[in-house]
Amino acid sequence: MSGTTALLTPASASAAARNTFTIRRLDDAPLGAEITGLDLSRPLAEKELARIRSALVEHGVLVFREQRISPEQHIAFSRRFGPLQVHVLNRFHLQHHPEILIVSNVIENGQPIGLVDAGADWHSDLSYMPKPSLGSLLHSQELPAEQGDTQFANMFAAYDSLPADVKQTLEGRRAVHSYVYRYRRLQKLSPWRADLTQQQIDAVPEVDHPVIRIHPESGRKALFVSEGFTSHILGLPQDESDALLKFLHEHSVQAGNVYRHRWRAHDMVFWDNRSTMHYAPITPQHLRRTLYRTTVEGDVPL
Ligand code: SIN
Repeated sequence: MSGTTALLTPASASAAARNTFTIRRLDDAPLGAEITGLDLSRPLAEKELARIRSALVEHGVLVFREQRISPEQHIAFSRRFGPLQVHVLNRFHLQHHPEILIVSNVIENGQPIGLVDAGADWHSDLSYMPKPSLGSLLHSQELPAEQGDTQFANMFAAYDSLPADVKQTLEGRRAVHSYVYRYRRLQKLSPWRADLTQQQIDAVPEVDHPVIRIHPESGRKALFVSEGFTSHILGLPQDESDALLKFLHEHSVQAGNVYRHRWRAHDMVFWDNRSTMHYAPITPQHLRRTLYRTTVEGDVPL
């Protein structure tokens, strides 16, 4: 028996033995890796979690195949990475599990069962919070035979490939992120977004964060503004801020910087909100699409 094995309890030793898994970088993609041979319904050993955490930082997006897990198991796995954030739209929490936000285009009894346009523009989840999300875990429940893809942009590469003069302009700048700003914009496009209550508005006051953030685990710089939640860059006239944000957006989502995820049944996708943005156009209603999302709290951006 090796020294390491001797330190494990029988339960954790057998969990470790079950969870020998493979991490494979996605072919022809600027980010992302696929994880196979792992069953997220079972308790993972610390060593396995450390491997997953480091793969998340390295690849930005992790695709776990064949995860036949319950909402409770989804929540338990997510919690291993930090406290979970409860979404302000309580109408779309999974019953008895407020940690899960339902993302869905399904209408039942004339009402949406989930947030239909959660991914309708490019964003990083919960960047409007003082402590934006570390990462989100999205688990497929019902998928259409066509459409319904989610796209991810690599924000490390977006920063690295900026022209030197733009990097210089952005150095030390901060930008405002606002949930209400995005909500009101999407409200014009979606009949399902009822007016926010005052209580909801008060729960998500706007915040400002550095335009370039340092990843707390790798120390790499990433661009941290989005089409969705960033209303303006502080200290610039609105027209200059608009033009700069437009440039940064177009730069970030160039085809060569984006991975398009085609969902398979039982996929769980875990992405790093500190170094990626994502986008999922609304899927037409006749193509039923439902996924469950948890969101892990991260750090105050540096
Ligand atoms: C989201 O923005 O969290 C939803 C993404 C998706 O619908 O694929």
